[in-house]
Amino acid sequence: MRAWSFSLVLSISLASAATFPDPEQGFSNSSILKIRSNLLEIASASWELGTAAEALLELSWPGLSVFNATAFPPPGRLKATAFPTDVVNIANRTVSQRPSGSLSLIANQGSAADPASLGVSVLLANWTRKQISNHDYSEAATDELTYLLEIAPQSDEGAISHRANEVQLWSDFTYMVPPFLAYFGALKGGLPGRNLLQIAYDQCRLYRDALRDDSGLWRHITLGSFEDKTHWATGNGWAAAGMMRVLSTMNHTSDARRFADHQANLTKWIDEILTESWSHQRPDGGLFNVIDDPKSFMDTSSTALIASVTYRMAVFRNDTSLIPAANRALKLVKNNVDGDGWLQNTVNPITFRDPLPTTEHSPEGQAFLLLLQAAWHSFFIHANSRGL
Ligand SMILES: *[C@@H]1O[C@H](CO)[C@@H](O)[C@H](O)[C@H]1NC(C)=O
Ligand SMILES: *[C@@H]1O[C@H](CO)[C@@H](O)[C@H](O)[C@H]1NC(C)=O
Ligand SMILES: *[C@@H]1O[C@H](CO)[C@@H](O)[C@H](O)[C@H]1NC(C)=O
Ligand SMILES: *[C@@H]1O[C@H](CO)[C@@H](O)[C@H](O)[C@H]1NC(C)=O
Ligand SMILES: *[C@@H]1O[C@H](CO)[C@@H](O)[C@H](O)[C@H]1NC(C)=O
Ligand SMILES: *[C@@H]1O[C@H](CO)[C@@H](O)[C@H](O)[C@H]1NC(C)=O
Ligand SMILES: *[C@@H]1O[C@H](CO)[C@@H](O)[C@H](O)[C@H]1NC(C)=O
Repeated sequence: MRAWSFSLVLSISLASAATFPDPEQGFSNSSILKIRSNLLEIASASWELGTAAEALLELSWPGLSVFNATAFPPPGRLKATAFPTDVVNIANRTVSQRPSGSLSLIANQGSAADPASLGVSVLLANWTRKQISNHDYSEAATDELTYLLEIAPQSDEGAISHRANEVQLWSDFTYMVPPFLAYFGALKGGLPGRNLLQIAYDQCRLYRDALRDDSGLWRHITLGSFEDKTHWATGNGWAAAGMMRVLSTMNHTSDARRFADHQANLTKWIDEILTESWSHQRPDGGLFNVIDDPKSFMDTSSTALIASVTYRMAVFRNDTSLIPAANRALKLVKNNVDGDGWLQNTVNPITFRDPLPTTEHSPEGQAFLLLLQAAWHSFFIHANSRGL
């Protein structure tokens, strides 16, 4: 009798473990310190700096990131120990170096979109600034918005171009622009703020309409002088991660209820990328550089980014069905960080199609590791609060 009830208890706890899997262990603090300092050493392109700023925010100042209900509005007066110095330093350097006459946060990038990836850090620097008479951040963010909405070329349907000199749509755009538009809107509030939330959503929708195909995955580049029709893993990661930030921003504004339908669609669009990506996961936990092309190569960088979105989505929806895949990915990614804190076996982020030699490093890959750690940690807290 006792043996029977014992096995009943055991099978119940096994069943709940199956529906709510334990998180894999995250990175050690010493590893994160090295990864972070390597990132700061090599991030230099506009999108690398923007992604770095977001990664630092999510990792070290989670209460200020859009994944936290406390994000809006950011507190005007922060104690020195709560002040996001590393994030604001990136915003400060960006705005200080902006040439006069440039609406874009960084001038002459070729990309119409990439500089906007710095916009969230610039807005945060404005809202938390100590010197209240300093309007430099606010003006720089407003100019960037003007550039995106009024100057950058647009497709016939109204998608803002990823490139400055022609209309060309890249999946990467989804991480660079809509999160900034949504954050700007969330801070602005009222009707103008709602309009910006709507535009952020519409840009995600238009990009999905242009890039998604029947596989459920997104192609990399369409329109303009060349195309990349492959399901580039990093591009799918940019799309899913960008939409996740827009979704979480909407969810934490006072207008969230008005955007319930938008949130449901974004959730579906992110989920289709995650589900389809992990259906191609290699036995070692990694993803291929072209997700559905086993003749490409394993890429740790996109594996980290897509795993990070998977942990975020699991918390957002309280749905852990993809956590086993994310755990396998996290384990693989950890095994690919060398003793000096460099991520190995990444794609070359500039060519999209070649592996990077071991002596070279991917700035965005380093940032994805921090995004992964932050997302994992949030899931870890969530899982523990369920008593697991
Ligand atoms: C790792 O860092 C976190 C955040 O700074 C801290 O809360 C935690 O105690 C640290 N863990 C160890 C083992 O030092
Ligand atoms: C939100 O931020 C607060 C303050 O930093 C923190 O205590 C809390 O754990 C965060 N919640 C989530 C879900 O990240
Ligand atoms: C950057 O920081 C310096 C030193 O605190 C300050 O004087 C300057 O105004 C800041 N730049 C911007 C654009 O706010
Ligand atoms: C900058 O911050 C102030 C609050 O200090 C706010 O009124 C203003 O709207 C902010 N600018 C932007 C573009 O968000
Ligand atoms: C935030 O998202 C969750 C998960 O989808 C949803 O249950 C909740 O209603 C959303 N909150 C608002 C205010 O829209
Ligand atoms: C959500 O998606 C459905 C199906 O595509 C569409 O009919 C609906 O208009 C979308 N909702 C919003 C707010 O765009
Ligand atoms: C989240 O999911 C767990 C496991 O399925 C369940 O026990 C719990 O009640 C859910 N929490 C919420 C807030 O829905």
